[in-house]
This record gives sequence, structure tokens and C-alpha cells, in this order.
Amino acid sequence: MSPTYEVRVDGHLDAHWSARLAGLVIRHHPDGTTTLTGPIADQSQLHGVLNGLRDLAAPLLSVDSPGTRSVESRGTLSVESRGAAATAPPDPLGRVAWPRATDRLTIRRAVRADADATFAFRRREEVGRWLTELPSDPARYRRTFADPQRLATTLVIEHGDRVVGDLMLRVEDAWTQAEAAPHGRGLQAELAWVLDPAHSGRGYATEAVRELLRVSFEDLRLHRVVATCFADNEPSWRLMDRVGLRRELHARADALHRTGRWLDTYGYALTAPEWAPAIRTPLRRNEFR
Ligand SMILES: CC(C)(COP(=O)(O)OP(=O)(O)OC[C@H]1O[C@@H](n2cnc3c(N)ncnc32)[C@H](O)[C@@H]1OP(=O)(O)O)[C@@H](O)C(=O)NCCC(=O)NCCS
Repeated sequence: MSPTYEVRVDGHLDAHWSARLAGLVIRHHPDGTTTLTGPIADQSQLHGVLNGLRDLAAPLLSVDSPGTRSVESRGTLSVESRGAAATAPPDPLGRVAWPRATDRLTIRRAVRADADATFAFRRREEVGRWLTELPSDPARYRRTFADPQRLATTLVIEHGDRVVGDLMLRVEDAWTQAEAAPHGRGLQAELAWVLDPAHSGRGYATEAVRELLRVSFEDLRLHRVVATCFADNEPSWRLMDRVGLRRELHARADALHRTGRWLDTYGYALTAPEWAPAIRTPLRRNEFR
């Protein structure tokens, strides 16, 4: 039988999200939190629920199940097991040496103190237009930004001492058949990017995302990375074309924009064998393959 979990988030989450979150029972509490309770079959399903909550911008407070207790350490929420089976979601970005320097930029892990700098550009309509949320309340944004699940997957881009953008690198399990599940853990990542419009048009996003691919394939040894954007978001898909990601999906009217319009989505991906020869090692003179 699957163990019962209780996941607690800040704020009141609408009950209709239950269907998207493994059918967990959603209860609101007077302290302004919501619990989601129910059986979760395995770690992969748990990660699905946690990623779903992140997509809904619901700040995660705790994850508990019989035999486990959640702990917060170094800004990253992990689940410590008291039983035999370890259920701790790993911190994949912890395996990478940060910061990363590119020609003009520094990329490092985000910390809570980056909330205000990222809010300054994410609150702008021309930026938020393409993102899950257009934040307007700094206090709420700070809480969401400090969600350990979010911090664990967020990087910031610095030019000099200014934060000019942020990136997401969210490692996930690859889809596998049940028997192959242990071999697909943590081998895929979803990537995303945001650049302060004050710094666009100079190739900073291109430079940062190229480094993100290097981290994904060289440091984390991932099998595949994916990224999506609204088909109307031309700067984003042009960026993906520029860095060598491959468009492999065009979903028609699958995303409801806050303007009330159903928009198309482009899905891009790149696998390690595609990346390595094409991008990682440009051929030097007199070098042949
Ligand atoms: C998507 C986004 C990051 C792209 O930003 P961008 O400024 O177009 O991308 P870059 O920083 O790589 O700059 C590329 C531009 O600079 C130019 N450029 C100048 N110097 C360059 C260099 N050294 N290298 C590459 N491009 C350079 C390019 O020609 C290009 O201009 P063009 O679009 O007129 O051809 C930005 O539009 C954004 O943050 N949008 C809002 C958030 C968003 O949509 N996120 C994605 C959600 S899916």
C-alpha cells in the first residue's frame, strides 16, 4: 500500500487543483495554509506533486509521511527518512561548482536576498506576459521566491554586480516504463530563463543559456533537456533556436493565457548526443570527425 503523505503550502490552494496533484485531498486551515493529504505511490509521483505545486507558485512549507519528516537545510527542503528506504529528494544543483563565469556574466545559485532584484523585472508587464505569474505584491513574491523547492532550481545571472536575469534548471526523472524506473531518475531537466529588459538585445540570455546547457550535459550528465514557450513568444523561441535547441512540439491552443486567449505552445529539447558534437566542441582547424 502506498504511504500517506501530508504536504503543506502557504496560502489557500483552490480545491480543483487536486486532480492535477495526484488526487490529494485539499484542506484549508485558519492559519492561512493548505494541506494536501493522500497516498503517494513513489518518489517519482512525489516529485510530480512538488513540481506541480511549484508551477502553481504555491510556497512549500513541509512534506510529511509516516516514517519521514521534512527538514530545511541550507535553503533546500529535503525529506529525511527514519525508516530503511531513503526518500530524500536530491539537490542536483548542489553537485555543480558555483559560480560559473562566462565571457561577460556570472551565474550562481539564487538566495532569498535575490527576491527584490528579480521582482524588479518580473513585475514588468512585458516580462510577466510570458510567465506563469505576473507578480504585483512584493511581500507575496518574496515568500514564493523563498520556497525551498524554487530556490533549489533557480539561478541568477549577474553582469558586474547587478542581477540581470534568472534561470531555472529543474532536474526531473525521465519517463520510463516501470521496470526501468531506477535507471531514469534525475536524467532530464526543464530549463527556463528571464532577462531584465534593460539588458536585452546584447546576447546575455544566449550566453547564459549556453552555459546552462554545459552545466546540464557536462556537469550533471543529463540525458535530455526540455523547454517550452508560448508560440507567440518570439524572443524566447529565437533564443532556443540560437543555442541549438531543437523544436519538437507545436501544441495547438493548449495554454490559457491570462488575457483569456488559448495560445499555442512550442516545445524544444536537446539530448546529450545531439549537444556534444554540435555545440560543446567546435572543430578546431585541421580537426576532422
Ligand atoms: C526570452 C528573452 C530572455 C530573450 O532575450 P534577448 O535579449 O532577446 O536574448 P539575448 O540576450 O540572447 O539577446 C539576443 C539579441 O541580442 C543580439 N545580440 C547582440 N550581441 C549578441 C551576442 N554577443 N550574442 C548573441 N546575440 C547578440 C541578437 O542579435 C539578438 O537580437 P535580435 O533578437 O534583434 O536578433 C527575453 O525576451 C525575456 O526575458 N523575455 C521575458 C521572459 C520570457 O519570455 N522568458 C521565457 C519564457 S518561456
